[in-house]
Amino acid sequence: MSGALLEIRNLAVEIGGRRLVDVAELAVGRGEIVGLVGESGAGKSMVLSTVIGLQPANARVTGSIRFDGVELVGPHGPEGRLLRDLRGRRIALVPQAARASLTPTLQARHWLDRALALHRVPRAERKARLDHALDAVRLDPALLERYPHQLSGGEAQRVVIALAVALRAELLLADEATSALDVTVQAEVAELFRSLREHEGTAILLVSHDLALVAGLADRIDIIDRGVIVERGPASVLATPAHAVTRELVAANPTLDALEARHAVETGGAADAPATAASATDAPTGSADARDGGAR
Ligand SMILES: Nc1ncnc2c1ncn2[C@@H]1O[C@H](COP(=O)(O)OP(=O)(O)OP(=O)(O)O)[C@@H](O)[C@H]1O
Ligand SMILES: [Mg+2]
Repeated sequence: MSGALLEIRNLAVEIGGRRLVDVAELAVGRGEIVGLVGESGAGKSMVLSTVIGLQPANARVTGSIRFDGVELVGPHGPEGRLLRDLRGRRIALVPQAARASLTPTLQARHWLDRALALHRVPRAERKARLDHALDAVRLDPALLERYPHQLSGGEAQRVVIALAVALRAELLLADEATSALDVTVQAEVAELFRSLREHEGTAILLVSHDLALVAGLADRIDIIDRGVIVERGPASVLATPAHAVTRELVAANPTLDALEARHAVETGGAADAPATAASATDAPTGSADARDGGAR
């Protein structure tokens, strides 16, 4: 996808001679939600942390990651203020353990204020931005007087997402954003992502083991296995998996009723229809073998 907000090409991440990520192509358009799914250890978190430049210090990164046309990889990548502007402000990471992003000794309000100051949001603007963000993530302002250990997992997560909203992040990297939460809160976070995209135009790269959540939210889904994207398509790709890895993931996931329902809607009721033309055209190059049986 040319001109996408995030464009990854031929990205390789190696540590100690081991190639952990080998992504030929992955793109997220403005306001688009792209799901990245795969089994544990497949490289999902490594892709996200490399996009935001927080990969392990001993990782060797080659290839290209372009954000809004700016190359993030290599010696000509952004430095100093521009880099800080991209990391954390225009691109925000919501890690699995959101509470760990907060500072234990700071009340949430101070943490947010400090982060806004760090990203040079003028003092006069901070309150209005924060009020808007709290409203967007539906967080009671009274909770901001609390320290991280006094917040629930879901509340801590919303504080982290509120920062992304207040900074007007254009791309949210959500790593297992709902896995530590109970089912009701999970549904709320899913709804929150949907509304951020709709009202703030936020693009989201969504990593989750919850395939039903991903299928319900994502416009497109990429399936990653041992660092390589092996299959991709619209959300319905999970209902009609072609690659063995995707089939295994789907078989291991107990909560796909919503997915099947969505697929039935998209295909006009034919729940067992073959993969759509779009999923075949969107498939990454080199995955022809994936589509005809998925030999591994
Ligand atoms: N700091 C590191 N040094 C060396 N190898 C690492 C490091 N961090 C992760 N890895 C390896 O990189 C691979 C990808 O890890 P990653 O954390 O991206 O997986 P994941 O898909 O996010 O898995 P999960 O679903 O369990 O979170 C794994 O084989 C992991 O062991
Ligand atoms: Mg991970």
